[in-house]
Amino acid sequence: MSGNPDTLDRYFVPTEVIKVGDQRGVVAPIFLQSQGEKIDNPLKGAWKQYAQKFNYEAWLVNSIPSTKDRVWGAFAEVVGEFLEDRDGTVFDLGTGPGTSSRMVLEKSKRVRVMGFDVEEEWLRQSRENLAEFAGRAAYLQADLTRPLSSIPDEVATLSLAHWVTPYLSKEGQKVMYGEQARVLGPKGVFLTNNLEEGVTYNEMLKRFVGWEMQQGNAEGVAEFAKMRPVADLFDEGRKSGAMYPATVTEQMGMLKEVGFGKVERVRELTHPSFDQPFSVVIAAYK
Ligand SMILES: C[S@@+](CC[C@H](N)C(=O)[O-])C[C@H]1O[C@@H](n2cnc3c(N)ncnc32)[C@H](O)[C@@H]1O
Repeated sequence: MSGNPDTLDRYFVPTEVIKVGDQRGVVAPIFLQSQGEKIDNPLKGAWKQYAQKFNYEAWLVNSIPSTKDRVWGAFAEVVGEFLEDRDGTVFDLGTGPGTSSRMVLEKSKRVRVMGFDVEEEWLRQSRENLAEFAGRAAYLQADLTRPLSSIPDEVATLSLAHWVTPYLSKEGQKVMYGEQARVLGPKGVFLTNNLEEGVTYNEMLKRFVGWEMQQGNAEGVAEFAKMRPVADLFDEGRKSGAMYPATVTEQMGMLKEVGFGKVERVRELTHPSFDQPFSVVIAAYK
């Protein structure tokens, strides 16, 4: 199974969310729940709650507007630079409601996008949000911490993971990186982001919210606070190791370990609530 992107054509059907890869991670918790057992990974439940409760763009992107250009806009600019001479298939890992997929589809008519997510509800929203791109967008349910066994080698030209890796376990991140090294073609690039040394995920959110309050954005902050029960699940995830927010240096090391030849910092993200860049976009080249 190598090198022919046409093998992906069957996934570009507008009406379906298709399950791919090793489904144990996706199916097992539902099965266990139906048997009255506790879910193995509390984060699975978190994403479901999150997807059901929030209009992601209204909630995160618009309620904390100081991050809109500095986080999503900055990533979009980097993606635009990497899309310039590229055609073929772009993978959007942890696509959520399709925010990054949309920016790719709007920036280039020469590519198609496969959005992967563990949570079916996000994929349903993504399908609705990207309806105008039918035929160029595919929606795949997969646990990215497990092998994407039905995806052939070397079929993607660019792969994105925007604000996804801190939510995966350390071992899970390595599996996901290894799979990207496998599915990207010889000139493929993996673009991802992570937090700069010395910045924790909680600290980042606290600072963003504090800044918004200083700016008098009480409504946005109240909207953001609705996330509290989900944030508690993330805390549980961090304690149990289900979620591992690695630093940039650590993440770059893992990417080299799984076989990426060159790994670079391509964009530092800044926010007025931090004196230093708080996050970095990383490019890993095959
Ligand atoms: C913070 S959201 C980021 C969404 C989008 N990439 C963006 O930047 O707007 C993280 C996404 O990763 C997904 N996710 C978390 N763990 C996952 C896993 N193990 N496999 C696949 N997707 C996962 C979540 O369901 C959620 O949609």
